[in-house]
Amino acid sequence: MNKFFHKRLDDKLNELREKGTLKIQRHIDSPMDAEVLMEGKGEIIILSSNNYLGLSSDKSVIDAGVRALKKYGAGTASVRFICGTFTIHRELENEIAGFLKTESALTYVSCWDANMGSIPVMAKEGDAIISDSLNHASLIDGCRMSKAERVIYKHADMNELENCLKKVKNANTKLIVTDGVFSMEGDLAPLPEIAKLAAEYDAVIMVDDSHGIGVMGKTGRGTVEHFDLLGKIDIITGTLGKALGGGAGGFVASSRSVVDTLSQVSRPQLFSNGVPPTVAGSALQAIRTLESRPELVDKLRFNVVYFRNGLESMGFRPLESESAIIPIIIGETAQAIKISNALLGEGVFVTGFGYPVVPEGTARIRIQISAALDKEIMDKALAAFKKVGAKLGLL
Ligand SMILES: Cc1ncc(COP(=O)(O)O)c(C=O)c1O
Repeated sequence: MNKFFHKRLDDKLNELREKGTLKIQRHIDSPMDAEVLMEGKGEIIILSSNNYLGLSSDKSVIDAGVRALKKYGAGTASVRFICGTFTIHRELENEIAGFLKTESALTYVSCWDANMGSIPVMAKEGDAIISDSLNHASLIDGCRMSKAERVIYKHADMNELENCLKKVKNANTKLIVTDGVFSMEGDLAPLPEIAKLAAEYDAVIMVDDSHGIGVMGKTGRGTVEHFDLLGKIDIITGTLGKALGGGAGGFVASSRSVVDTLSQVSRPQLFSNGVPPTVAGSALQAIRTLESRPELVDKLRFNVVYFRNGLESMGFRPLESESAIIPIIIGETAQAIKISNALLGEGVFVTGFGYPVVPEGTARIRIQISAALDKEIMDKALAAFKKVGAKLGLL
């Protein structure tokens, strides 16, 4: 053991602890739901999970996972192309493609992998990637893995996007990469304007809609549905670890050519196992549940408006957004963490985010709304916000 190496890491952790910015992992002893049993805290209201539709603890979703586990076992114990794949993978991929109205879809063990594994394939040397400055870390890292030229446009700024497109006009493929719903702001990518520019400059669009699917659009098909662009976006990626069951897993939904190419050369497809059957079974059921119960999306939307109005009426000023993400900018990381801890003391779990997750000086608490919440629970949570807001001088 190199004790100096380990000590340097401990010193860094102690530094974070002293600054009050060390992240603490809470332990939960029950399924993810509107309320959970948190170790050492008791029953806590959850406003920090991506369980947007409340399907993580849905009986049919759990049962489907158990059935798949019993039928297929724990997994393939290998990479899919080496020893074959389960029929439930094909079923899930067909379901995703059908749901998002694309020709085909391919699953990965996470959306992180889907983004990292697909961007370097879609944009290579001689190509260009044009990326929103607030894109999710997995998109950023995926872009970094590519040998294409990379240019970044100011968040959602269409003049800058156009300038970037002009700058890379000689690239073979011009790939515009954006989140659908931006995870730390909650706002939507201006997809109609992006699509217009893409058509004008002969670019390809890739949207990561991890926070949009199950949330946006009349039937929960995401930001692309919200803007009436289903069938018109080249590549959609997303996670199965949020609204669609909340287990894990991600996907790329696109044309058959994109999906077949990724199956051939995308590195996580060639060198890593497929989604475990339990996860595939639960995610498949979650999509089917959403398709048969689109009213879950209406319930989520009602809850978002109810909670946002409640916060605003007591004097909080959250960022504007149409999604289920309601951020309140605090400023300093330590202060955001302090507010988060104070809310937890009142029985409400809301995470405080600081640098490097968000830019320095823009630390925030991020509230995430779920269809699993009912009015009584939301009122309890709002009362906690009022108490903490008054105590810490936020109102
Ligand atoms: C926009 C976005 N993309 C990708 C991911 C990664 O998803 P996964 O947990 O499936 O890797 C996240 C998760 O936080 C996300 O918010």
